[in-house]
Amino acid sequence: MPLVNPVNMLQAARAGGYCIGAFNLVDYLTLKAIIEAAEQQQSPVILQTSSATVKQLGLPAIGAMARLVADASLVPIALHLDHGTDPAVIREAIRCGYTAVMYDGSKYPFAENVARTRAVVAEAHAQGVAVEGEIGIVAGVEDDIVVRQDAAIYTSPEEALEFQRQTEIDFLAAAIGTAHGFYKVEPKLDIDTLRRIAQATTCPMVVHGGTGLPFDVVRELVRAGAAKMNVSTQIKQTYIDGLFGYIEGHRTEYNPIKLLDHARRELVAMIGQYMQVLGSTGKSAGSANAA
Ligand code: 13P
Repeated sequence: MPLVNPVNMLQAARAGGYCIGAFNLVDYLTLKAIIEAAEQQQSPVILQTSSATVKQLGLPAIGAMARLVADASLVPIALHLDHGTDPAVIREAIRCGYTAVMYDGSKYPFAENVARTRAVVAEAHAQGVAVEGEIGIVAGVEDDIVVRQDAAIYTSPEEALEFQRQTEIDFLAAAIGTAHGFYKVEPKLDIDTLRRIAQATTCPMVVHGGTGLPFDVVRELVRAGAAKMNVSTQIKQTYIDGLFGYIEGHRTEYNPIKLLDHARRELVAMIGQYMQVLGSTGKSAGSANAA
């Protein structure tokens, strides 16, 4: 089916008490692995790209690849721009077929974040594209943005509600103590705040920094109201470890197809496991609305 706007799948997840995985692709192999896992699990899925991947592959190529794969698939697939900061890039992503975009104005004071996010929402909604906003500051490393753990700012439920009301965003990333990248120290999660924000607002909640969270913590976050969970670093690690592992055992084989196939299978297994833990397995029917 064509790429879908993810609002319906996220609202269904919110209402049904499960969560949709948003997996960062880095190339065609990772894109194929994410879709293969979604098909095996009969799960809706969000493909997303960071700004480094956008620079590497270009928005037209990403849009074309995602459309090609989605058109041939029966599970609902959305294409989302992760951490957009430049309205011109967001506009271009929409032109290239993205069905959702994040505007990350979290570094600005509240009123400026609201004004900038509202402008993106007006443009995106006019074209049937969904918008994720963010308030609070998520720690860790995302491309070339580095935020120390002690510099993270947690989101308050009152602010979240006001932000949703003033911006009319479709889903909201709140800072509750998770971080991008590998955890160097155990994260101090404020799961109760996530629960209170999810109850105070009507929009699905997004948790960034899915990599490295123990699965029982992931399940707790989902129970507290996480409807979209971002997983990026784990994709890169499984990919690279898969390639290394195969090369170590087959140093003189020189068969790139077998090498890449091995890495892809490792990725499909890992992503499938996330979908099971998030509870999106078996939820592909009834959560699509074509973009
Ligand atoms: P991780 O790299 O920690 O999985 O975080 C991904 C993310 O939140 C992307 O926005």
